[in-house]
Amino acid sequence: MRTQVGIVGAGPAGLLLSHLLHLEGIDSVVLELRSRDHVEQRVRAGVLEQGTVELLETAGVAGRLRREGMVHHGIELRFGGRRHRVPLTDLTGRSITIYGQQEVVKDLVRARLEAGGRVLFEVDGVRLQGVDTDRPAIRFRAGGQDQELHCDVVAGCDGFHGVCRDAVPEAARRVFERAYPFAWLGVLAAVAPSSEEIVYAASEHGFALHSMRSPTLTRLYLQVDPDEPVEAWPDGRIWEELQARLATDDGWTLDEGPILDKGVTGMRSFVVEPMRFGRLFLAGDAAHIVPPTGAKGMNLAVADVHVLAQALAAWYRTGAGDLLESWSATCLRRVWRAQDFSTWMTGLLHRSPDDDPFQLRLQRARLEYLARSEAAARSLAENYVGLQQV
Ligand code: APR
Ligand code: PHB
Repeated sequence: MRTQVGIVGAGPAGLLLSHLLHLEGIDSVVLELRSRDHVEQRVRAGVLEQGTVELLETAGVAGRLRREGMVHHGIELRFGGRRHRVPLTDLTGRSITIYGQQEVVKDLVRARLEAGGRVLFEVDGVRLQGVDTDRPAIRFRAGGQDQELHCDVVAGCDGFHGVCRDAVPEAARRVFERAYPFAWLGVLAAVAPSSEEIVYAASEHGFALHSMRSPTLTRLYLQVDPDEPVEAWPDGRIWEELQARLATDDGWTLDEGPILDKGVTGMRSFVVEPMRFGRLFLAGDAAHIVPPTGAKGMNLAVADVHVLAQALAAWYRTGAGDLLESWSATCLRRVWRAQDFSTWMTGLLHRSPDDDPFQLRLQRARLEYLARSEAAARSLAENYVGLQQV
């Protein structure tokens, strides 16, 4: 098989890259380990920055997103039994849209297949070859047969647990990482959201987050011990903790309903530098992970492939490689801004086992500053809605 751009992974990064390249008249093939059903049903993040929505719109894949996405103009910070609204749109002129990552994936898979795009699911044994030459190839197995895909460049969009990053020799990459002493337990519940906006709660029992997917589906998260298996969290215990952590002094109530999906995700910060090695470009979670508190993961993946598609288009059009040369540095500026914001939001709202009483007082002082100072709230807001220039 032969194509111009070989893409590994059909998450938001791989699929959107394939679609943006198609709009530029560039051919690609996407190779995905899991089934179409699996990638379309996997419950993941759900907050789209306005810039992400605008890009999907320009790319012609935002029809359902415009109809079903929930546009939000503020978020709530909750602590000490009180609620404080951060009016995102008043402070920045911009908004966010809640739309599940798997819905973005469904829309992109459909757009690719309708345009005759090649997306191969249930492909395994992916191995990269010759990424340090100008004739790279991807070997893989599909339908029980060994295959080889020859291409001009490879886009490693295979997420944090993918194989593409390992094709970069250790001497040619530097990894920056941080682990957190907690994880997130995420649940999807068949009940109307109890709040119109996303609620981030810092409580003495730990962090909790109230989000949503539709007028009848609530998405909730709890900070949990990273060693505790999901089996330790029967539905009753989850609701009890959510009730305790989200409680307010003003009579707000959290409505409960059947839990449809439950999972624990570890928290980490991770960046590999540079994001390029020869003809291999690592985009999205393959190159960086942020803790989910800032809601940046999917938006970073989208930004990476937006810049990459433009750089590849310029290269194919004119032969000029300068945008490809600067691609990694361009992306890393946004990635590190998001790392800083996500780390800050995480520290603002979570409880660590090693927090001493002094640290807890600092955390409270920061939250109160955000509730009282417009300058502090604006800084949070401009990062949350997504910086246009980084
Ligand atoms: N071969 C082929 N495909 C693979 C392989 C492999 N060896 N390993 C992983 N994949 C696939 C995964 O099954 C997945 O569908 O690569 C895809 C990677 O997609 P994502 O993990 O969604 O990563 P990305 O597209 O970068 O999107 C980032 O995902 O984890 C969230 O918070 C994160 O919202 C962010 C988004
Ligand atoms: C979500 O709706 O899944 C969500 C919202 C905000 C976050 C993370 C996840 O910070």
